[in-house]
Amino acid sequence: MNMKPFVDKSIPKISRVQPGSAPGIHIPPSWEVAESTVTPEEIYLDRRKFLAGLGKVGLAAFIGCTLPGWMELPRAWGQVAPDRRSAGAGQGPELNGSNPVPTAESLTSRYNNFYEFTMDKSWVHVLAQALRTEDWMIRVEGLVKKPHLLNVESLLRRMPQEERIYRLRCVETWSATIPWMGFPLRDLVNLLDPLPSARFVRFKTFLNPNWAPGQKDRFWEPWPYVEGLRLDEALNDLAFIAVGMYGHPLHPQNGAPIRLVVPWKYGFKSIKSIAAIEFTREAPTTFWQSMSPLEYDFWANVNPSVPYARWHQGMERVLGTGDTVATQPFNGYAGQVAGLYTP
Ligand code: MTE
Repeated sequence: MNMKPFVDKSIPKISRVQPGSAPGIHIPPSWEVAESTVTPEEIYLDRRKFLAGLGKVGLAAFIGCTLPGWMELPRAWGQVAPDRRSAGAGQGPELNGSNPVPTAESLTSRYNNFYEFTMDKSWVHVLAQALRTEDWMIRVEGLVKKPHLLNVESLLRRMPQEERIYRLRCVETWSATIPWMGFPLRDLVNLLDPLPSARFVRFKTFLNPNWAPGQKDRFWEPWPYVEGLRLDEALNDLAFIAVGMYGHPLHPQNGAPIRLVVPWKYGFKSIKSIAAIEFTREAPTTFWQSMSPLEYDFWANVNPSVPYARWHQGMERVLGTGDTVATQPFNGYAGQVAGLYTP
């Protein structure tokens, strides 16, 4: 990854959700963020402090994307069905004693890594408009009862959606907090019905140099982008499939129409625009492992005490705030996932 450390003024904090479903009393999970902490974007935009961190991203007019009707998601948090929302004043993990605050969408939709299009973060949102998401299909293959082509439109019709606010910590040392819409990866895995011999799940992005100039210009890279999880990681409550953000469908630059979000791992694990899902017995080799095996390992759990080959991982820049804060083990989600890695 041609990544520069501390290239941006930025920020993070938290996450949210699995809505508590017990009637009467809601005991929020330790990583849940109260809905009241989600500050509307307009309020962010009024904050000079926030704008100060904008850097070269700028406030250029937003380039809208046209999405098919079936991808319409609730326009506002208030429209999300009550049993799909996190209730109560949940206490999310704190970051250096401060409350988590979602990053303005004007930043998270204009400062992106999507190498298929370009390595220039502030240009991705322009080039990614070439992505065509209509009639998107996912090839389901490998160790699965029924290999098939999964139509994303029909998938979304049958999957109830919920909101989650997660921190995203990039290996480049910037971070953000993003409200996603979607469903637990576990529900998708269960639907796809892997064979008992499956131990890993491999995700693949599209391969189309006509849309994505990076796949043409940097032909020596091992396209398509591939990522993977161990099956028990995929079944963890936090592993999430996002189809929307900030109450609307995903922007192309953020991985429309469907992407993975794994908040306790470095951002590169959260593969965008998934076009194939394969269940395997062996750990898949990922895009970044093929590119640079000494720099990227399969697990990629956020770990401030293990330096990346080119810079340390102890601190992070919080997008939009100008703050630099200490990175937390598992990006603050140790309570939910550390058990996955104990022998
Ligand atoms: N998925 C694909 N297909 N291609 C990419 O280049 N970049 C990854 C990840 N998913 C990437 C990808 C990296 S390095 C990061 S940090 C996150 O996407 C960024 O997600 P965002 O742009 O929505 O913030």
